Amino acid sequence: MTETNAPGPGGAQPASPVIEISGLRKSFGDRPVLKGIDLTVGAGDVVCVIGPSGSGKSTLLRCINLLEQPTAGSIKLLGVEVTDPDADIDRVRTHVGMVFQSFNLFPHKTVMGNLTLAQRRVLGRSKAEARAVALRNLEHVGLADRIDSYPSQLSGGQQQRVAIARALSMDPAMMLFDEPTSALDPELVGDVLAVMRDLAESGMTMMVVTHEMAFAREVGDRVVFMDDGQVIEEGPAARVIGSPETNRARVFLHRVLNPAAIDDSELGQTEPPQPGDPDYVAPAHGTGSHDRRSGPPPGGDGHVPLTVR
Ligand SMILES: Nc1ncnc2c1ncn2[C@@H]1O[C@H](COP(=O)(O)OP(=O)(O)OP(=O)(O)O)[C@@H](O)[C@H]1O
Ligand SMILES: [Mg+2]
Repeated sequence: MTETNAPGPGGAQPASPVIEISGLRKSFGDRPVLKGIDLTVGAGDVVCVIGPSGSGKSTLLRCINLLEQPTAGSIKLLGVEVTDPDADIDRVRTHVGMVFQSFNLFPHKTVMGNLTLAQRRVLGRSKAEARAVALRNLEHVGLADRIDSYPSQLSGGQQQRVAIARALSMDPAMMLFDEPTSALDPELVGDVLAVMRDLAESGMTMMVVTHEMAFAREVGDRVVFMDDGQVIEEGPAARVIGSPETNRARVFLHRVLNPAAIDDSELGQTEPPQPGDPDYVAPAHGTGSHDRRSGPPPGGDGHVPLTVR
């Protein structure tokens, strides 16, 4: 689909890790949000990042392309230390394509205008070259017939595919996705995931923050589970999602994979009674778990108590 693993600014070999993060910390004020992240993403790897809201997933992605300045630690992209104060941030960013939940297209520009602007301004491409690259990427996402449309004339799924084509038009060496389907109506999610699946199969290095567990399992080489600013668990996608090793990952996955069970629990429609129910009696000895549901999550090994009762 697109050129992948382009030689890095330092002339790194494609075989070296595309992303190398070590000891990454980020605080907002005195509040630590990333508490020491170590993560390596090899060329062509698809790493899906999952975890509860507020665990630091977006902050991690934003640190990688320096939309957030890390507080400590190092990030190397294509072998180049981008956390070095002397690093050329703009140059670094041209290697990193980022796709956000909210598309971030320019509303006053057509699809073609959105795709050619940065190519011309940042990469200095001619109008003809930028248009040719744009058209090629729009064909890949199935929207070559919409070059003259404005974002408001497109569905959310189409806008997100335009955003992906726009990122790809910069010939990135890696693509970062932050919940790219979360804002979409359910019927529009599939087209965007299909584009991402094609991109993964083309060999693009990808980090994807997602709640789409089926996608993570099928397309992800690895899954990283984050909680409270730390990587709690990391491994092959099928293993982490199918049989998580840590209690925190099990509880999270159970919640994500069984939303109806949570609803029942929160409505107090399941037995035994839940906190807040008139007939609920608090247990004498809590386990320290946050989990409020009865019944074990999938893949549990039974060693760690998962319920408060
Ligand atoms: N610019 C900021 N200033 C202050 N606090 C921030 C800022 N950005 C993020 N945070 C805080 O950092 C923590 C992690 O936020 P982050 O957006 O990375 O979480 P997340 O895992 O992406 O969550 P979600 O799944 O809801 O998107 C949160 O407590 C959030 O309030
Ligand atoms: Mg987020």
